[in-house]
Formats: sequence, structure tokens, C-alpha cells
Amino acid sequence: MKSQIIVLDFGGQTCHLISRRVRDLGVSSEILPFTVSLDQLRNLNPKGIILSGGPASVYEVGAPTIPKEIVDHCVSKKIPILGLCYGHQLLAKILGGKVAPKTSKEFGKTNLTVKNADGVLRGLKPIEIVWMSHGDQVEALPEGFEVYASSSTCPIAVYGNSDTNIYGAQFHPEVRHTLSGNQILANFIIYICQCEKDWEMKSLIPILIQKINDQVGLNGQVILGLSGGVDSSVAAVLLHNAIGDRLHAIFVNNGLLRKGEVEQVQTSFKERFGFKNFHNVDAEEIFLSRLEGIVDPEQKRKIIGFTFIEIFEEEAIELGEKFPNIKFLAQGTIFPDRVETAATSNSSSKIKSHHNVTLPDRMKLELVEPLREFYKDEVRRLGRELGMPEEIIVRHPFPGPGLAIRCVGEVKKEYLNLLRDADAILTEEIQKTGIYNELWQAFAVFLPVKTVGIMGDFRTYEYMCALRIVESTDAMTANFAKIDWDLLERISTRIINEVRGFNRVVLDISNKPPSTIEFE
Ligand code: XMP
Repeated sequence: MKSQIIVLDFGGQTCHLISRRVRDLGVSSEILPFTVSLDQLRNLNPKGIILSGGPASVYEVGAPTIPKEIVDHCVSKKIPILGLCYGHQLLAKILGGKVAPKTSKEFGKTNLTVKNADGVLRGLKPIEIVWMSHGDQVEALPEGFEVYASSSTCPIAVYGNSDTNIYGAQFHPEVRHTLSGNQILANFIIYICQCEKDWEMKSLIPILIQKINDQVGLNGQVILGLSGGVDSSVAAVLLHNAIGDRLHAIFVNNGLLRKGEVEQVQTSFKERFGFKNFHNVDAEEIFLSRLEGIVDPEQKRKIIGFTFIEIFEEEAIELGEKFPNIKFLAQGTIFPDRVETAATSNSSSKIKSHHNVTLPDRMKLELVEPLREFYKDEVRRLGRELGMPEEIIVRHPFPGPGLAIRCVGEVKKEYLNLLRDADAILTEEIQKTGIYNELWQAFAVFLPVKTVGIMGDFRTYEYMCALRIVESTDAMTANFAKIDWDLLERISTRIINEVRGFNRVVLDISNKPPSTIEFE
């Protein structure tokens, strides 16, 4: 299938999100590095090009750019271009406009005044809320361009030239905070580029299976880290469809799992999906002993990641004696995991390391990551297309490092047990009320802070439990969920009454950004 929209990556955190929004509109898209050559572009023959945002400044030495001949080619072939944020500034500069630094950076929700509700802004209201995040801005337009919209601090927030179909927007239409973002992208993709809506998830399954077979070969065997979460479960079923019993699913109990999880995962995969090669490894002791005394979140993640890989390798060696063709390690890594580790392009900066992708150099197994291009909700759609049951599909995401990053500070079995019990109560109450599927995640967090309480006639001095309940569509941004007070009260009362060790429950009311979903 030909990619109809090419997204050129200038290192922005939301570059992949742009491509994903294009797919949401039913149009295929592909991300290419900004270093793409004119010949490559010519061969791909896209119907439109989007230039992503990025952290650089267009006048910096070595700032990412594209040759003007690419823009000229697009103009001559009538291929529309949309520049976003850095892409907006870069296009203006390449075409002879002027970009200058602002004295103060603009970050967050901004009111946009629409001056020309046409082109990419077709059908928009006179005032729209958009998401800005920039230091520089366009100060003078290239010849032949007009201002389509402005904000109080950014006079050229959207520009365009309806003859050449080149547009630029200083803000990010791809993030949900830009309320008409999808409309803007649809205007560009469907109305201006006139793309066909011919992309759907189902058509991807045979392509993904083929890719797995190409990488693994006819005899290759694969081990997979099965966590029980939706990502690794969908990856496992996809791989099972592709290579059958040549897949060895290894489930590591790292002692950092939720209540009852070990039993649930075994039952699902062995009995329901009929996995013949399901291996259960109990490694709780080794994980917890290595985490002893460690409080730094990054260090915790690294220890868990390395231990996990080590155990895999040990298991693989053991299995390798029986199955000499085990040469691959499959993981349910999805796109946001790679964004946050800055493993998506050379130009983005590191935020957090995710254990799925911090592999040691001595790693002997080749990685198979069939879901690496997808967002969580796309993985769910894929799982449904694969015929997987809803209870696995709609399960809230659970991070690779597990409860260790929800146990703030040092990780101890005593704390984990408290956390598991509180978390199970929270989940049960949320499920009972029927709002589980509306939430992205709802979980408990252990805070190693002791405060005073009173129970019966006794003074207590116990730890604190935080509730993190968020709504999101892709984990790139998230809002705390404004759930019913009575439900919150039931959860809090049950936790304090039933979990001996907590005497206080607090609610996290921060959004992402600037906070993250997990506490560490
Ligand atoms: P944050 O905390 O970065 O989380 O806002 C975004 C999403 O990613 C999940 N998460 C992880 N998943 N390994 C994972 O597999 C990790 O190390 C990890 N850290 C965060 C988190 O649960 C949320 O859904």
C-alpha cells in the first residue's frame, strides 16, 4: 500500500502522533527522517507532506532542514505541504520569510483568532483553543503568503498560500488540547491533499505476520516476555498466529505484579489460547534483593530491565538446549515507550528510560517488536481484529517495571503487599461502577510518608496511599479523571479499613504534561 502522507521527522515528541492522526482519518502515512532525498520522495509519490515540530531553532548551526529543491518539487507537482511548529518556521525560512526568537517561550493552551476560515482552517470558529509550545516564531511572511490566524503573542500563528497549497501552523493540531486539531488535519489531508480513506487495521494483520516471518525465517524460534498486559498479550497472539509453537512465552514473576496476576496470566495463555510453550519463572527474590536500598527511579528501572533480560537469557539458554533455533526475543514495545526513551529519532531528547528498550550490549538475542509503531488504542484494535477477548483488550496499561515505579522510594515486599491490596480494592470498585473502560489507568501508589490518624481509640502512624486515575487516548497527554466523590469515598474507606498499613488516602489531581502518569 502506498503511503499517501509523508511525515518528515524533525525530532518533535509528537511527530509520531501526527502520523497516527493521519491513520485515524483512514489514510496511510509514513514517517521519514528529515534527511530524506528528493529521489526517495519522488519514488514514494505522496499526496501530501507534513513537516513535524522539533526542539531545534532554525538559525542554529546544524539545525535540521530540507533542501529547497524538495519544496520546489512539491510546488511543481502540486503536492501540498503543511509545516507544524518547527516545520512551520522552517518552511517560512526556506521560502524567504523571517523567523526570530521570542523573549519569552509560549507553552500551553492559547486562544487563536481565525482570520481566514479557509484552507487548513476551513470551517473553524473565529476563536479556537490551540496548544502552543515554542521559543521562536515567524516574524515576516514569504512572498505570496497570507496570515490565516494569530494569537495575542504570535501574529503569524497560521499562514498559507492557496495557490501552492503550502501551509504552516505554529501550534500542534495533533495533540488533543488543540480542540479542532483533527478538523485542521482533515482539512489538509482530505480536502487539500484529496487523499483516499483506504487504510484500516485489519489490512495490517497479514503484513505484520509476513514481517515476523521474514525476520524469524522458517525455522527460527522466538522467546517472548509475556507480562499479561495488553501489549505483550497482543504481541504474543500475533506471533502465535505467525509462527505457532515456535513461540516460547516466558512469564517472569518479578514480584512487582498486581494481586492475582500470576494465576490469571497462566490460565489465559495456557488454557484459553492453547500456548504449548508457556514457561513460568519465579524470580521474585532476585528482583527484590537487587532493588534493596535503591530509591532513584531511573536506577530502579535499569536494575529491573537488566535483571529481566538476564533471566530471559538464562531461560533461553536452558530452552536453547532443547530448541537450538531460539535466536529471537520478542517484546510488546509500543510507540510511546520509544518516544519517552527518545529512541525514535536522533533529534529528540531523553525523558525516561523504559525497561523494554534499555537492552545491554551483550544481549545475544535479536529483537522482534511487531507493535513498535503503534499506540495503545491501536494495539487494542489490533487485538480485537485478532479475536482476543475484551477482558484482555481493555485492561489498563501496566508498566514493565511494574509496582516498583508505583512504590515511591525504596521497594520492599511489605510496601508492595500494601500496594497490591489497595490497588485491588481500587480496581474492584472502579469495575463495579462500570467506568473502568472510560479510564486510561486507575491505580494505587505507595507513598513512604507516615502521618498520624485515629482508628477507634488508637492513634495510628501509617503510610499514605495515592490514587492515580487518569483519562487519555494515547498516554502522550492525560487528564486526571473527575470521578464521583461517593466512589472516591468508598475506595478510600475500604483501603483504610481493609489494608492495615495505610491510614490516609490522597488523590492525585495533576495532568500530563507537566506531570507524568506514573509517579516515577
Ligand atoms: P508516563 O508515566 O511516562 O507513562 O506518563 C505513560 C504510559 O507509559 C506507561 N509506562 C511504562 N510502560 N515500561 C512500560 O512498559 C515503563 O517503564 C513505563 N513507564 C511508564 C505508563 O503506565 C503509562 O501508561
